[in-house]
Amino acid sequence: MVLVTGASGKTGRAIVAQLAKRDVAVRAWVRRQSIALEGASELFIGDMQDAEDWSRACVNIKKIYHICPNMHPEEVNIGRLAIQSAKQAGVEHFVYHSVLHPQTREMAHHWHKLLVEEMILASGLPFTILQPAPYMQNLQPQWETIKNEGVLRLPYSINSAISLVDLNDVAEAAVTVIGSNQYIFGTFELTGTPPLTQQEVSNILGATINRTIQFEEIALDNWEANNKTLSDFARQTLLAMFRYYDQFGLAGNSISLRSILGRTPTSLANFFSTTNHQSMC
Ligand SMILES: NC(=O)c1ccc[n+]([C@@H]2O[C@H](COP(=O)([O-])OP(=O)(O)OC[C@H]3O[C@@H](n4cnc5c(N)ncnc54)[C@H](OP(=O)(O)O)[C@@H]3O)[C@@H](O)[C@H]2O)c1
Repeated sequence: MVLVTGASGKTGRAIVAQLAKRDVAVRAWVRRQSIALEGASELFIGDMQDAEDWSRACVNIKKIYHICPNMHPEEVNIGRLAIQSAKQAGVEHFVYHSVLHPQTREMAHHWHKLLVEEMILASGLPFTILQPAPYMQNLQPQWETIKNEGVLRLPYSINSAISLVDLNDVAEAAVTVIGSNQYIFGTFELTGTPPLTQQEVSNILGATINRTIQFEEIALDNWEANNKTLSDFARQTLLAMFRYYDQFGLAGNSISLRSILGRTPTSLANFFSTTNHQSMC
């Protein structure tokens, strides 16, 4: 039985579904009773900030795939509870869903993951750390605009070069890693593409739907004004991420993902044209 935290989120659902495909029993940690989760053998309802919930979640668990909720201000404390509970339960493989380049202090959600990674290294637990690039799926909410208006709008420069990865590749790699001891004590970047400028992303999108796609940079003031419903932490962290992307991009290498998958990772063109062709056309 594998405990998967953050199971009802974007990442968790993809990983639980892949585990189910391989007939792995999953205890899926969700926050709310009302969630239906395809592929989970058991639902565990609890709050990841609660130490007692962690102890209960880890009963009879030998493997944990820990996904912290996105943009959570308490990621380090949640990581500490996860590690302590895993040790108490005698967990034999602790996999942490980190992020590409956690060493970036400017982006709190990256930096907090580095602090969790540091605790994992010192914990004595048999671990694997996975560091995924931004998902290709993050572009999905824009598809109607791209298709109808021929415009890709993002809050950073057209020249920002960012590596991407298909979340389905990440889930496939995650399930391979949790199913094998050969990845223990390894830290692996999960990157699918070379760094792509937003002009290149626009060109790939355009080729997929057979029309010219213009890129428009959203001013940060406008983005902020349109995202008032986010928590202050999430809004400030995302703004810091956009500034970082604008200045440095986010460049990763795909060798480790290729090795884990045993095939070439999904390209952005393939992702658009196969997975989502119906939504794009
Ligand atoms: N998106 C990317 O491109 C990307 C790339 C690399 C790494 N990552 C990392 O992947 C991780 C997961 O991101 P995601 O976008 O998949 O997350 P997500 O969709 O925001 O899902 C988070 C889940 O956690 C649940 N949750 C929130 N607070 C909780 C709590 N206190 N106790 C228990 N459950 C709680 C939420 O439940 P509710 O449904 O009840 O709110 C939600 O289902 C993040 O750490 C992120 O940094 C993301």
